[in-house]
Amino acid sequence: MAEQQQIVYLNGELIPLGEAKVSVLDRGFIYGDGVYELVPVYARQLFRLEHHLRRLQHSLDGIGLANPMSPTQWESTIRALVARQPFDDQGVYLQVTRGVAKRDHAFPAGVAPTVFMMSNPLALPSREQVERGVAVVTADDNRWRRCDLKTTSLLGNVLMRQFAVENDAVETVMFRDGMLTEASASNVLVVIGGTIVVPPKDNHILPGITYDATMEFAREAGIPIELRPVPKAEALAADEMWLSSSTKEVLAITTVDGKPFGNGKPGPVFRRMWSVFQTMKPKVRQTA
Ligand SMILES: Cc1ncc(COP(=O)(O)O)c(C=O)c1O
Repeated sequence: MAEQQQIVYLNGELIPLGEAKVSVLDRGFIYGDGVYELVPVYARQLFRLEHHLRRLQHSLDGIGLANPMSPTQWESTIRALVARQPFDDQGVYLQVTRGVAKRDHAFPAGVAPTVFMMSNPLALPSREQVERGVAVVTADDNRWRRCDLKTTSLLGNVLMRQFAVENDAVETVMFRDGMLTEASASNVLVVIGGTIVVPPKDNHILPGITYDATMEFAREAGIPIELRPVPKAEALAADEMWLSSSTKEVLAITTVDGKPFGNGKPGPVFRRMWSVFQTMKPKVRQTA
């Protein structure tokens, strides 16, 4: 299969996917003991790489794992991987696990981490999704309390996303103790009276790189922003609700739990923000 020929990176080597093998004792497999990043690549330009590497460091620090590479090494390795793919717009997935060791919960001593990277075509939302918006369902956020770490232990998020799929929705928007957190693989922003209102970055949400980009672009475009906890009732009564992520950019939510949200169409602030995002994204390339 052609897919098996795709070049991936594993522990210092660029090799075909079909040859990339990891031990069943890898702690990523046994415990989900690792962290990851997803870096979008537009026309072979890495988008906000510095931000992703900073968040990777935060995740590694959070799980007590030394960073196996310097930012320069990450950059050159990612660039080498990107250069080996036959498509221009990519999503580079990278993951670092605590390596291969005899099964025991406590950290093993003197074990090299496993570093894996692959790059797939960047799957952005369709024109129809941008123009019509998407459906979400809601649920109580039952994940752990370190959602600021981008860990490969994603079962909580996997179950939430599956709940969405089973209900013909693209995402599950979550609330913890009656407050908006995020969605299974996206941040959530609402618009109230023309102001973008977003939950502040804390341990309950992933500090999204697209969330930051959206805030920056909105500031530059003069769209007011308020960072504060958002009660569930307020979120569900907001004028607009959006998702943000590296693969969704910004996307309007137009159906919640099977019912039209607002007037069931992407709102004016979303339409403005989406255009601003499209114009601004090339300007903020961290690496040319
Ligand atoms: C739980 C969660 N929240 C938010 C995001 C958005 O983060 P980013 O904008 O960096 O893609 C993601 C991305 O995968 C995610 O998994």
